[in-house]
Amino acid sequence: MTKLPEEEHPIKAFGWAARDQSGHLSPFNFSRRATGVDDVRFKVLYCGICHSDLHFIKNEWGISKFPVVPGHEIVGEVTEVGSQVRKVNVGDKVGVGCIIGACRSCDNCNKSLENYCPKMILSFAATYHDGTTTYGGFSDTMVANERYIVHIPNNLPLDAGAPLLCAGITVYSPLKYHGLAEPGKHVGVVGLGGLGHLAVKFAKAFGSIVTVISTSPNKKEEALKNLGADSFLVSRDQDQMQAAQGTLDGIIDTVSASHPILPLIGLLKSQGKLVMVGVPDKPLELPIFPLIQGGKNIAGSNIGGMKETQEMIDFAAKHNITADIEVVSMDYLNTAMERLAKGDVRYRFVIDVGNTLDATKHT
Ligand SMILES: NC(=O)c1ccc[n+]([C@@H]2O[C@H](COP(=O)([O-])OP(=O)(O)OC[C@H]3O[C@@H](n4cnc5c(N)ncnc54)[C@H](OP(=O)(O)O)[C@@H]3O)[C@@H](O)[C@H]2O)c1
Ligand SMILES: [Zn+2]
Ligand SMILES: [Zn+2]
Repeated sequence: MTKLPEEEHPIKAFGWAARDQSGHLSPFNFSRRATGVDDVRFKVLYCGICHSDLHFIKNEWGISKFPVVPGHEIVGEVTEVGSQVRKVNVGDKVGVGCIIGACRSCDNCNKSLENYCPKMILSFAATYHDGTTTYGGFSDTMVANERYIVHIPNNLPLDAGAPLLCAGITVYSPLKYHGLAEPGKHVGVVGLGGLGHLAVKFAKAFGSIVTVISTSPNKKEEALKNLGADSFLVSRDQDQMQAAQGTLDGIIDTVSASHPILPLIGLLKSQGKLVMVGVPDKPLELPIFPLIQGGKNIAGSNIGGMKETQEMIDFAAKHNITADIEVVSMDYLNTAMERLAKGDVRYRFVIDVGNTLDATKHT
């Protein structure tokens, strides 16, 4: 017989879960495994809210298994390490992103591309090696094999640093891989949300010239003044889009909903690259003529591997790159999700799990 979430493992745990695709989240008792020899256990202090959490609790991709404890931008302080752990010590600040397991023997794993391992295990709403469900960071503690633990440098603030673990690596990795992380490259960022605003910051740190392509004209001033973008296009303004045809070496598309990509292909120079990282729930229409006429490329990218995630965190700490955040308490979670669905956040919600989760135990 299947065990209850509270009885699967020896260590009691508490968090917030969605029980069904209404997406409503509420307090949830479950359990976590004891610390194994190569495991790191940590107290969760902050956890970012990614749009993927929202897709999952509403089962928008049709793959959610409930109950879902979301949260995959998880940071905290190490409370226990197994006897063979070498990477971190008790008291260190650490994080876990989307990945909590992989096969460790395929070609991808051997290159630390765990993000492309066919057996990659998500840190939430997935099935772990032992057959139990993985529960994410909207919870009091985490335990993970040290391979999936990221060390957080002391100068990186934990709250504003948390979103780097998913949003940050998801934009850093394709910028690097597609040769866009170079001075003078013209980079477009579509969708100025959690991922998009970090894409602007990383691209600027790499020395690129950055154009934001957005549906929200009211984000223009912030994009140019605060985030450092060089230009701003309103995607629904055909004159602006027309004037910028053929100007971009590459585009990172972070949009979470269905949208036309023909105008984006038009913005690319010949042989330019459109990299999709946003995951709309429905397929997009792919026009072929404009692609072949300009020898253009469309690619996809999924978070990043563990080695590259640590590299990204160290780069961010060195260049003072953090997310622009609104810190919220655990009991604000459902409101935060509703606001995220409406695009009402500048630019990432981060839950103060460490200070506010306990108070919700008896609500
Ligand atoms: N590939 C990966 O590894 C990976 C990792 C993390 C997240 N994701 C996915 O990436 C997407 C973005 O995540 P996020 O956390 O950055 O979300 P977010 O904060 O909600 O930002 C998404 C942005 O997309 C734009 N947008 C929303 N609806 C739109 C529409 N109907 N048409 C055009 N633009 C629209 C908005 O920007 P403007 O107001 O500027 O238009 C919005 O701020 C989600 O689908 C998420 O699941 C993928
Ligand atoms: Zn995410
Ligand atoms: Zn593998």
